[in-house]
Amino acid sequence: MSDNDQQLRVSKIQNGTVIDHIAGGQALNVLAILGIDGTSGDSVSVAMNMPSDRLGHKDVVKVEGRELSQNEVDVLSLIAPAATINIIRDYEVVEKGRVERPSVVEGVLECPNHNCITTENEPVDSRFAVGDDGVRCEYCDTIIRDDLPAHILAE
Ligand code: CTP
Ligand code: ZN
Repeated sequence: MSDNDQQLRVSKIQNGTVIDHIAGGQALNVLAILGIDGTSGDSVSVAMNMPSDRLGHKDVVKVEGRELSQNEVDVLSLIAPAATINIIRDYEVVEKGRVERPSVVEGVLECPNHNCITTENEPVDSRFAVGDDGVRCEYCDTIIRDDLPAHILAE
């Protein structure tokens, strides 16, 4: 990439996760998926609409002191399919991976249908099949097309 000192706008982090190559404009949705609202006191850097060779414009989110769960990565892949997840330890990138679009996301999203068995007080985890135009509840067929972050289950 063409990053150099003149272009560096967000500091490197010591330990944590850098989510890079997020489609421009999606950074706030990424924060929502990670449950980051700024109240926990953890350091988080967000850069929006940075020039990118690959994407034209990209967003970058850097989270100090935290690595992501597979569930979080699965939902991220739905809104940021080109994202790269970099694990940072002692300032070095020790692991770099692309997100993969799963065929099913389980226990992460809440079905918008209040009559769905997964939203009642039953021990049934939600399961959504991932399609091209959204995700479909495997119990009641309700489709969530837009606004996935609004349907993420609180942890
Ligand atoms: N990064 C960071 N803190 C570190 C190390 C890296 O914030 N201590 C960030 C970099 O700024 C970059 C991302 O993590 O946004 C990936 O770092 P690196 O692999 O060094 O950069 P590139 O080679 O440009 O990555 P890619 O090939 O994935 O574009
Ligand atoms: Zn449902």
